[in-house]
Amino acid sequence: TLLVLDFGSQYSHLIIRRLRDLNIYSELLPCTQRIADLPFQPKGVILSGGPYSVYDSSAPHVDPAVFDLDVPILGVCYGLQEMAWQLDQHNVLAGEKREYGHAKLTCEQGEGSASSVNVLFQDVPNGVDVWMSHGDKLSHLPESFSTIAATSNAPFAGIAHTSKPYYGIQFHPEVTHTSHGTRILENYAVRICKARQHWTMEEFVGTEISRIRALVGEKGQVIGAVSGGVDSTVAAKLMHEAIGDRFHAVLVDNGLLRHNEAETVHQTLTSHLGINLTVIDASERFLTELKGVSDPEKKRKIIGKNFIEVFQETAHKIAKEAAGTPNAGDIEWLLQGTLYPDVIESIAFRGPSQTIKTHHNVGGLPAAMHLKLIEPLRELFKDEVRILGTKLGIPEELVWRHPFPGPGLAIRTLGEVTRSQVEITRQADRIFIEEIIAAGLYRKISQAYAALLPIQVVGVMGDKRVHEQPICLRAVETTDFMTANWFDFDRPFLDKVSSRITNEVSGVCSVFQNITSKPPGTIEME
Ligand code: XMP
Repeated sequence: TLLVLDFGSQYSHLIIRRLRDLNIYSELLPCTQRIADLPFQPKGVILSGGPYSVYDSSAPHVDPAVFDLDVPILGVCYGLQEMAWQLDQHNVLAGEKREYGHAKLTCEQGEGSASSVNVLFQDVPNGVDVWMSHGDKLSHLPESFSTIAATSNAPFAGIAHTSKPYYGIQFHPEVTHTSHGTRILENYAVRICKARQHWTMEEFVGTEISRIRALVGEKGQVIGAVSGGVDSTVAAKLMHEAIGDRFHAVLVDNGLLRHNEAETVHQTLTSHLGINLTVIDASERFLTELKGVSDPEKKRKIIGKNFIEVFQETAHKIAKEAAGTPNAGDIEWLLQGTLYPDVIESIAFRGPSQTIKTHHNVGGLPAAMHLKLIEPLRELFKDEVRILGTKLGIPEELVWRHPFPGPGLAIRTLGEVTRSQVEITRQADRIFIEEIIAAGLYRKISQAYAALLPIQVVGVMGDKRVHEQPICLRAVETTDFMTANWFDFDRPFLDKVSSRITNEVSGVCSVFQNITSKPPGTIEME
C-alpha cells in the first residue's frame, strides 16, 4: 500500500485513481495524519498538491516523522515545496507570476544513465507536456538535492535527494494533461517503492467475500436497500455470494420509479441473481404525503423521511420472520453501497480549520437504525464497481444504467406531484430512453431523462386548440457529475422523440430540450 497525504489539492484523488490504473492500492489520508498513528506501514508516501503557501503561518505541514519512515517520498507541487521546507527551511518563494497550464519538461532520463536517481523519468522523453498549477517556487535547491527536470519558468521542476529516495516534482503527474504522467507515477510506485501491482477485481472479489464472512460470522444477518442502480445491485450480489439468504434486500416502491422499474428490478435480482428480495409497494403512502407540495427541497425531505420509515418497518418484519430461521442470528448489519469518492470526500484535507465530515448516507438510515454498517464497495471507484458487476454476472444494461436520484420522478415532475402527473413524466421518459437505446446512444450519454413542466402551452390537435403541458428533455455527458455538457442530438432523432411523445402521451402538446451545461445548470431541474 502507498500512502497519499492530502494537502487539499483538487487533484489529490486523481493520484489514487492513476495508481489504481496501475493495479496499485493506495490510501489517501489528510496531511495532518500523525505518522505514529498510521493504520498500516506504507511502502512509499506521496505528498499531494495544495492551495497554500508553505511559508504562511496557517499553512498545513506534514508530521516530520514521515522522514523517519525510511520509505521513498514523492512531493507533488505543494508537496515538493513542503519537502524542501521541512528539509531545508526558507527556500520557497512566492513566484513572480502564477504558472498555470502546459509547460515543456526537460528531464534527465534514466535509461542509459548511470545515476539511479533518474529512474523517476525512465522512459519519459525530453520535451513532454506537463501541467503546472502553482504560484510559489523554490528559490534555490534544498541542501543535498539535485535538479532532475526543468521547464522554462521552473528551473527546479524536478528534484531528487542525492542519497535518500526523496523526489519532488513541481507539475501534476496525476492529471491527464501531463503526458507520461502515469509513467512517472509508475516509475515511482513500481520501480522506486516496489509496490505490488495486485489490485484487480478478481482479487478483490475473493478477499472481500472472505472479509464479509469473517465480519458477519456464521450466523450474522444483513439487511440493505436496493434501488436497481449499479452500486446497490453490485453490493447486494456480493453480499449474496458471501452469505446467501442471510442477506435480505429491500426495494421500496415509492410510486416514483420509472416505467416497469419495480418489476424489472425484482425479476433481475431474484430470478437472475438469486438475491433474497422483498419489494414493498408504498406508492400510496408517498403520493399522499406529497399532496400539495411543490417545493423541491420539501419533496426531497418528505421522500427521505418516508423512505426511512418504510425501510425500518420492513426491516422489523423481516427480522421477526428471520428470527425463527435455524442457524441464523439477529439482523445486526446494514449494507451501504458507499463508494471511494464518498470516503475520500469525508477524509480529504479541506483546510486548517476543517471540521470532520461524515460521508452522506442514503436517506440517513444508519443513524436511525442502530445497526452496524457494512460497506463492501468503500474502496472502489465507479468504473471498478462496473467491472466487478460484470464479473459477478450482473446484466450489462444494469451495469451501465444511468444514475437515478433517490426522490425519483418526483423531482422530474416539476411543481405538484400527483399520480397522474407522475404517469405523464414516466411515459415520456420511457419513450425518450427507448429511442436513445434504439439509436445506440445510451452509453455515450451519462444521464438522460424527460421532465414534466408545470406550465400550460397552447397547441393544435386535430382541429382544436388545446392547452397542455410541455415535456423537457435533458441529456448530459460528464465524467464526474460535478460538471456536465448537454448532449447534442441530431435532428432526425429529436423529430422522432418529439413526435412520439406528443402522439403517445396524453396531456402533452410540446417538447422542449434543456441546452444548459453544468454549471450554470445542474443535472436535475429541481
Ligand atoms: P445535480 O442535479 O446536482 O445532480 O447536478 C448530480 C447528480 O446527483 C443526482 N441527484 C440526486 N441523487 N438524491 C439523489 O439520490 C437527490 O436528491 C438528487 N439530486 C440530484 C442527479 O441525478 C445527478 O446524477
